[in-house]
Amino acid sequence: MQIIITENYNEMSEKAADIFCGVLKKPNAVLGLATGSTPIGLYKLLVERCRAGLISFKDVRTVNLDEYVGLGKEDEQSYVWFMNKMLFDGVDIDKANTHLPNGLAADVAAECARYSALVNSLHRDIQLLGLGGNGHIGFNEPGTPFDSLTHEVALTMNTIMDNSRLFARAEDVPRRAITMGIGEIMQAGSVLLLASGGAKAKAVKELVKGPVCCDCPASILQTHPNCTLVLDRAAAAML
Ligand code: F6R
Repeated sequence: MQIIITENYNEMSEKAADIFCGVLKKPNAVLGLATGSTPIGLYKLLVERCRAGLISFKDVRTVNLDEYVGLGKEDEQSYVWFMNKMLFDGVDIDKANTHLPNGLAADVAAECARYSALVNSLHRDIQLLGLGGNGHIGFNEPGTPFDSLTHEVALTMNTIMDNSRLFARAEDVPRRAITMGIGEIMQAGSVLLLASGGAKAKAVKELVKGPVCCDCPASILQTHPNCTLVLDRAAAAML
């Protein structure tokens, strides 16, 4: 596992953007993407670099980690809305080539099976990850088996409270989500995990130094053949 420690959030985002631009040299790259606060700076830089003509998403395909059950692209809290606003609307990507689980699917189990088959059919050149304060990756909460495939999850109270900052009221945070499984995350050709801020320091320590154990889902990344962590100083403070 390669660990890059940067001074702050902006430097972390620059470093991540450089890594993504390297992957985008392959015109038909497949990108595994994440939502949340952490990748916003990266996505802003990718939009800027695309507008400057330095990179193109014309033949790129993307597959996201997760989506809330019950929210669709018109909901400002949905992950599909976030991805459109933060990245897809600002670059030259064909939206037909962008994929997220369908949070509005009537049959959630069938949607998980469809998404799993889709993920399986795409060879991701890179999978971007954020890190939960409890060590989750995607919405794979502590205790999730390492060989899990795309599935529906009940979010832990911890994650609901973390994510409530983005909703008017904590009661509005959906209680369920569809997430890519840890087994599928691990199939990506390379993994890039970003973490910023002191609230992530303990999870980063468990990820890097702890036992590989499903109490810290991210600890499985110790066994990935091509995994890079880009951390800012605060997130790396306990290493
Ligand atoms: C998002 C995701 C989550 C976040 C994690 C960190 O698609 O799957 O695992 O990456 O909860 O969230 P932030 O970046 O908001 O701290």
